[in-house]
Amino acid sequence: METSDLSVAADAVHAVNPWVALAYLAAGVLFILALRGLSSPATSQRGNRFGMAGMLIAVVTTLLTHLPVTKTGGCAWPADCGPGVHWFDGVTFGEILAAIALGGAVGWIIARRIAMTAMPQLVAAFHSLVGLAAVLVAVAAFLNPGAFGILGMDGNILTVSRVEMALGAAIGAITFSGSVIAFAKLNGNMSGKPILLPGRHLINLGTLVGIVALTGVFTVAANAGPGENNLFWIVLVLSFAIGFLLIIPIGGADMPVVVSMLNSYSGWAAAAMGFTLHNTAMIVTGALVGSSGAILSYIMCRAMNRSFISVIAGGFGADDAIAGGEAREQRPYKSGSAEDAAYMLEQAEKVIIIPGYGMAVAQAQHALREMADKLKAKGVEVKYAIHPVAGRMPGHMNVLLAEAQVPYDEVFELEDINSEFAQADVAFVIGANDVVNPAAKTDKSSPIYGMPVFDVGNAKQVFFIKRSMGGVGYAGVDNDVFYLDQTMMLLADAKKMVEDIVKNLD
Ligand code: TAP
Repeated sequence: METSDLSVAADAVHAVNPWVALAYLAAGVLFILALRGLSSPATSQRGNRFGMAGMLIAVVTTLLTHLPVTKTGGCAWPADCGPGVHWFDGVTFGEILAAIALGGAVGWIIARRIAMTAMPQLVAAFHSLVGLAAVLVAVAAFLNPGAFGILGMDGNILTVSRVEMALGAAIGAITFSGSVIAFAKLNGNMSGKPILLPGRHLINLGTLVGIVALTGVFTVAANAGPGENNLFWIVLVLSFAIGFLLIIPIGGADMPVVVSMLNSYSGWAAAAMGFTLHNTAMIVTGALVGSSGAILSYIMCRAMNRSFISVIAGGFGADDAIAGGEAREQRPYKSGSAEDAAYMLEQAEKVIIIPGYGMAVAQAQHALREMADKLKAKGVEVKYAIHPVAGRMPGHMNVLLAEAQVPYDEVFELEDINSEFAQADVAFVIGANDVVNPAAKTDKSSPIYGMPVFDVGNAKQVFFIKRSMGGVGYAGVDNDVFYLDQTMMLLADAKKMVEDIVKNLD
């Protein structure tokens, strides 16, 4: 192809039909409304619908702009084509639909089968696919720049496209390898404990500096020679390595932040992909996911009293002393039955329920709501206290309580309810552990030290549902609340125990 043809091709590919631009704008606005809706349980369903509508518009518009076109001049919408231009040479509309059907079917089956408690690893696995997609798009653009309309007049890849390509490849590769490690840790294929390589901060810093420097050289490289080829592949390999190196030293209680950080990275990877593909909707959506994921990570770090920079820098400050898993001594505790609990709950004026991961495992939320309804009918004030990292994913408890149709105005966040335990007759801990562990405030060697926790010990009585005294929470540490004078251990599966309490409330 002549160089003048190439620039015509590039212009044609970059031209955006006003209707397409308008459709993408509408999709972008719907995504923003979706995020706004998702900020509160009361509006989250509406938010989800906005998001689905936005995605439908974005996907249909993208498909229409890629309908196979005639190659002779004068193409009309949906294809803004110039002479001889075909965006997806060799790919038919049917093949695109087949890929969507295949991906959609796999996603549908996985989403239906997955247990709610395995959601974090599923999210990590999906993030890895976004990262891989960004890498593949960047590689495709690098190997076949003509098809992406990114060749300049001199026949070389445009400088701006090199920047987009290198960023897409690097962020995508970091997201991919980081997400694979996060998946393996959360899924139990790898130990959840931090793996601390000697000199890791120096290695990480060196690798990052290498990526930035080589990306810079690749960007300004003038000729598509073998040296330039090597630079691109080296940046890619280093990026895969840094994703791996950044996540292995992060362990235990910091994994929730990692999942939301990877969510953010996957958004930036998608945005970079959008630049390479000249797709505005993808750029907007990627930026929204990237920034909202970063904000969520920051909020979670604050909730867990972790330094945001330390976590994203790969467990900076983590050491072996706080890797968890200490030996446990036998200490005396009081245990009770469902009958005892029901009797005391009926006498109470104010009950605060603290749900945690065990409630999700037992799927006890419906029985819990029934218990709360019965207590309310008897004049007891019932409130739910939700810790930002209770369960295994952001909003885990809110989702389960919403599923059981617990009224939103009975659900409170940590900072809004923590002072109320002093006035509560019963703190009803159901399947929570780390989020009520006072070691977070008192024991500097504890892996959860510094995380704000519920002060359940201030309540007149504490009921603690778990299956056995042997089981520990996510962080793997003992909990002094089990042994308080006012604590009654209710040792059973959470659903079974609550159902039995409900029977005794009649
Ligand atoms: P955990 O500290 O993990 O404690 C769960 C408790 O539930 C344990 O005491 C366990 O004891 C009990 N349990 C398990 N299955 C049960 C069942 N069927 N019936 C009754 N009890 C059952 O939970 P948490 O307090 O919600 O804290 C969350 C932890 O997970 C934090 O450390 C957090 O950092 C971490 N984490 C959070 C996230 C997000 S984003 N939320 C993601 C990853 C990790 P038994 O085994 O004795 O029953």
